[in-house]
Amino acid sequence: MSRRILLVNGPNLNLLGTREPEIYGEETLADVEVLVSRVAGDFGLDVRAVQSNHEGALIDAIHAAREDCSAIVINPGAFTHTSIALRDALAGVALPVAEVHISNVHARESFRHRSYVSGIAACVVVGCGVQGYEFAVRRLAALIAG
Ligand code: DQA
Repeated sequence: MSRRILLVNGPNLNLLGTREPEIYGEETLADVEVLVSRVAGDFGLDVRAVQSNHEGALIDAIHAAREDCSAIVINPGAFTHTSIALRDALAGVALPVAEVHISNVHARESFRHRSYVSGIAACVVVGCGVQGYEFAVRRLAALIAG
């Protein structure tokens, strides 16, 4: 079995650290990727990190995970609330998925309350800041270990 996790960040998450810091905090995407790699490393897992503002590029990265990854951590950004195609891609590769949202989407606008991804996710981490990515990795590591 592959010892790799795919970390996927969707649209606008490249702006972490400067984007609405009162909502998303001051840590950058690079900080998130370092955190995820460090925590994964504690479980003997390595990480491929992908960020894109383009739905198709995210879907291609998810498909590629079939070859060499055993789980996916994804913050789909706004595509969470809009993209059946992203959900279908995640369901199609049949790897355990941890869905992460930095902010508490349920305490925000009603259009953020629906997620197309949650129904196929192994776990959902919401409103824990960037620490949510760490929780997601820990949970996936446990699932992979069986
Ligand atoms: C987000 C929440 C989404 O509603 C939003 O569109 C994002 C970030 C989060 O991490 O809290 O881009 O996924």
